[in-house]
Amino acid sequence: MKVAILTGGGDCPGLNAVIRAVVRRGEAHGFELVGVRDGWRGLIDGHTFRLSRDAVSGILPLGGTILGTSRTNPFKREGGVDAVFRTVERAGIDAVVAIGGEDTLGVAKRLFDEGLQLVGVPKTIDNDLSGTDYTFGFDTAVGIATEAIDRLHSTAEAHSRVIVCEVMGRHAGHIALHSGIAGGADVILVPERPIDLAQVAAWVMARQERGKNFSIVVVAEGAQVEQGKDATLNAELDEFGHVRLGGIGAYLAKEIERRTGIESRVTVLGHIQRGGTPTARDRVLATRYGVFAADLVRDRRWGMMAALHGDDIVAVSLDEATKELHLVDPKLYEMAEVFFG
Ligand code: F6P
Repeated sequence: MKVAILTGGGDCPGLNAVIRAVVRRGEAHGFELVGVRDGWRGLIDGHTFRLSRDAVSGILPLGGTILGTSRTNPFKREGGVDAVFRTVERAGIDAVVAIGGEDTLGVAKRLFDEGLQLVGVPKTIDNDLSGTDYTFGFDTAVGIATEAIDRLHSTAEAHSRVIVCEVMGRHAGHIALHSGIAGGADVILVPERPIDLAQVAAWVMARQERGKNFSIVVVAEGAQVEQGKDATLNAELDEFGHVRLGGIGAYLAKEIERRTGIESRVTVLGHIQRGGTPTARDRVLATRYGVFAADLVRDRRWGMMAALHGDDIVAVSLDEATKELHLVDPKLYEMAEVFFG
């Protein structure tokens, strides 16, 4: 069986660990493996290449993806879907392992409905895919954000400032909530809850009154001051209809300073959260997903995705994994609130 592997959407620590695992397990099953360049774009353009065991040697700890990635959506390109099927036929590809988040796996689900034999692996630092408890990459992003919050504490205290730390996560607040709890943030703001500026200022002032001359506010890039109104970097939409989020941190810092009179600054962590080597936990999870995905192919369980339920890797349908966003657990947020102010 000839099996193609692709990585789509934003990159994420652990992608290479999955690729290595699919190749190693796949070769043990007797598959011939090929890589697809830059996600779905490579299948549209016919850009595939042989992936041997040698090609994946040494990539386990590397960030990024040796295959490249893009946010190409074949359903938004003229003739895109036909081109994908043409490539699959010409290259003699029997099955595709699609490693991606909500968007890439949404395309995978639709292509599966159209007859493509494929399986999925859940990737994203945002951890917003339903059907799985955790996506790989999330643990690394949370670790990086937590270290940043730790570092911001000393400079905030030295200057008697409020520092707002803006983290990624799109429309889910998992990175903000987990790193905020781990880093001991004084306020954590997530998209799942509207921002109450008066309450944020009150929390900061409560600390001031207790003699704490600084505060750390962690905000998810998708948190909203007004419901339905994202802070965005520009008005352009990508091929999946997403805006580029960003700017809520700067807005908050200005508002906090205006309302409290305390000098405030913003730090936007951005792509630092996605780059570099995965944590040991993400390497293990990515490896388990990759091995399981190769087994799904061997068992011809098309349209399924590897998922983590508790401590077990199980198969869930791509339909289930992409039908809604996995949002922050309100109970965890309420627990975090114990430490606000
Ligand atoms: O989905 C992962 C993610 O890093 C989001 O957290 C963020 O909003 C987005 O991708 C950024 O995308 P880009 O790589 O296009 O800047």
